[in-house]
Amino acid sequence: MTHQIAVIPGDGIGQEVTPAAVSVLESFDIDFEFVEADAGDAVEAETGAALPEETYELAATADATLFGAAGESAADVILPLREAVDSFVNVRPARAYPGVDALRPETDLVFLRENTEGVYSGHESRLSDDLSTLTRVVTDSASKRLATFACDYVSDRGLEGFTVAHKANVMRETDGRFRDAVAEVADEHGVETDEVLMDAFATHICLDPTQFDVVVCPNLAGDVLSDLAAGLVGGLGLLPSANIGPDRALFEPVHGTAPDIAGEGIANPAAAILSAAMLLEYLGYDEEGKTVRSAVESVLETGPRTGDLGGEASTDEMTTAIIDAL
Ligand code: NAI
Ligand code: MG
Repeated sequence: MTHQIAVIPGDGIGQEVTPAAVSVLESFDIDFEFVEADAGDAVEAETGAALPEETYELAATADATLFGAAGESAADVILPLREAVDSFVNVRPARAYPGVDALRPETDLVFLRENTEGVYSGHESRLSDDLSTLTRVVTDSASKRLATFACDYVSDRGLEGFTVAHKANVMRETDGRFRDAVAEVADEHGVETDEVLMDAFATHICLDPTQFDVVVCPNLAGDVLSDLAAGLVGGLGLLPSANIGPDRALFEPVHGTAPDIAGEGIANPAAAILSAAMLLEYLGYDEEGKTVRSAVESVLETGPRTGDLGGEASTDEMTTAIIDAL
């Protein structure tokens, strides 16, 4: 079976780390068809559209998409791309690796972030010179869809349950609905949950991240708390993510275009390659995904490493070492 993969490198180091991820995928004997498309600042400057219609269409029909990063136009690119795959959950593992300087080397957890609503649903208004408002959207259906995914996620991995981070003590209606909907689904699936207020979670994760395995959160909380976790594990060059929809998915490093180092060939390819590992697992190639993760892990430990990790290797040298370690 051929898997069509949309490859959208975007701007800056997206152009450097996305080909690295593709070359890792190419080293397996899997029938991939890679189709490349443009998005981001460069194509916007040329054509006026940061996300050309054919790129949107490609992501909406391909089996999976590998995205790099977009610059100033990021919001105009990534939000519609997530919509193209109808992505209702953003999966963000935050894990520290041996050999990488981390504030909390014992960190190993996964955020399952609601990806469609909350305060990011775009309902903002300017009501007067003095007053602007934002409507926070929470539905039972989106909360339950996320919770069902979370239940399957922990069951597949032999885990007992997950933590729900919310702020239902203040946002009683919206986060109250979120918390109750998630609890109802977990109950039906026989999955254990515990709850934590999202502000307290920020403190707990700094003091002892080992308390958490899988954390389910509303959109904004998931965005902020997973970036906090990125700080604990040694920075952005290492964090992959997956935007999962019912029929397709989009995989991207958490980092942006890194304009300070773009074009020099020294970007860390690990986050993009770990995103490719998530893509392999999504398509059912669990063994291959695990192999990629182990290869990245061994190279992080022994080198060669890129400059952000204290090494002197180029993107190509680190990528070649990872492919050799497969
Ligand atoms: P950034 O992630 O691009 O860079 C932050 C810092 O981390 C920089 O010092 C950069 O050199 C370093 N860094 C990031 N990834 C790295 C890697 N793979 N290897 C080595 N060092 C790495 O975030 P920043 O500076 O806030 O944003 C730069 C641009 O990226 C902006 O235009 C922003 O809009 C865009 N952006 C796009 C995203 C996306 O497309 N999903 C996400 C975040 C930012
Ligand atoms: Mg963010």
